Amino acid sequence: MEYIEIKQLLEEKGQIQLLRFYDKLDDKEKSVLLNQIENIDWNSISPEEADEEGEIEPIEGVSCQEIRKNSEMFFKIGSEQLKSGKVAAVLLAGGQGTRLGSSLPKGMFDIGINATKYIFEFHIENLKKVCKDTNGKVPLLIMTSEKNDSVTREFFARHNYFGYPKEDIYFYVQDMAPATDFEGRVLLEEKGKIALSPNGNGGWFSSLVRAGLLDKMEERKVEWFNVFSVDNVLQHIADPLFVGATIANNCQCGSKVVKKTCPEEKVGVLCLKGGRPHVVEYYELSSEMANEKIDGELVYKYGVILNYLFNVNRLKEIASKNIPLHIVKKKVEYIDENGEKVIPERENAYKYETLILDLVRLMGQCLPYEVEREKEFAPVKNRTGVDSVDSARELLQKNGFSI
Ligand code: UTP
Repeated sequence: MEYIEIKQLLEEKGQIQLLRFYDKLDDKEKSVLLNQIENIDWNSISPEEADEEGEIEPIEGVSCQEIRKNSEMFFKIGSEQLKSGKVAAVLLAGGQGTRLGSSLPKGMFDIGINATKYIFEFHIENLKKVCKDTNGKVPLLIMTSEKNDSVTREFFARHNYFGYPKEDIYFYVQDMAPATDFEGRVLLEEKGKIALSPNGNGGWFSSLVRAGLLDKMEERKVEWFNVFSVDNVLQHIADPLFVGATIANNCQCGSKVVKKTCPEEKVGVLCLKGGRPHVVEYYELSSEMANEKIDGELVYKYGVILNYLFNVNRLKEIASKNIPLHIVKKKVEYIDENGEKVIPERENAYKYETLILDLVRLMGQCLPYEVEREKEFAPVKNRTGVDSVDSARELLQKNGFSI
């Protein structure tokens, strides 16, 4: 598009501020900016109403007790899938980890105490173990963002992929979306550059498809994606029991869950809404529902830990559906109207994100698979306190890891 067309487009969209410093840019910067503007997906910053229809009800899952009882059968079914290469793991590593406050990708954080131990290293060791135990082969897809892609790739290469077969590792970059001020005006990060940030973890599948990796995985006969977050250092990836239980229960989607510790715990709860799986945020659950009990147990008890299993065929069926956008308040550095860089001290901007839990809803059904919190849930979100480096280290040690 020519400058004049871009200008007209921005006037229509109420975004003309993006050309405020255009005359001061050199030719190369001008063309970079025009190109960026041309490529903005305006839908990515115009949130639609989320699908909020339906009554909330509890969801049936498989409990730890049932898993123990059926473990042989689940393991047999699941390990068959791993052995024939039907399960791929998808590591979500496109986030910015703002709460942790490190400028590096979260997976590069050294969680060790006496020795260096990177978060990425934990995940790879976990995968190596599961491949050994099942005689399996698990392709690992790592989703990065434009902000951290090259540093993540270099890190893995420098560490020789922590001993994982290089041909089984695939990197891909997630889509980006512009950040705006609270009035919806897109921000500039530099005079000739829009402030873009990763568009949330709900886009993991569409970005994977765009990167050509669905075709590659289908060539490899992959039928399941186990998607997990970078920050839970205790999680079990491509867990044969989880795969086996999902298949044995005739489900096309599964979610690892932990029992809530108390009604007030700040965790998203898996339930049904209008008959479809739904993750209700802790602040959306009424106190009455949060406290409801049957036989001494919470009715809405299953907290999600961002470890899901998705069937590839079902994902393909729902791929064309829109995932709702969520608005999140974040701190975003920007150039003000005087051309000065502003480093905000508090949230000043909206980011627009799609969330994986909305994809779970689109799948239509989901099996909650209960795991023991102390054994499988040690998220690293903050430096100290709840869900922090400190709490994760403590849990790792409790589980016998020397760190
Ligand atoms: P979080 O919601 O914890 O976000 O991500 P974050 O960006 O890592 O951390 P904060 O909120 O800024 O402190 C949960 C998982 O989803 C991934 C993260 O890397 C993490 O594994 N994620 C999040 C993406 O891959 N892309 C995104 O755009 C956002």
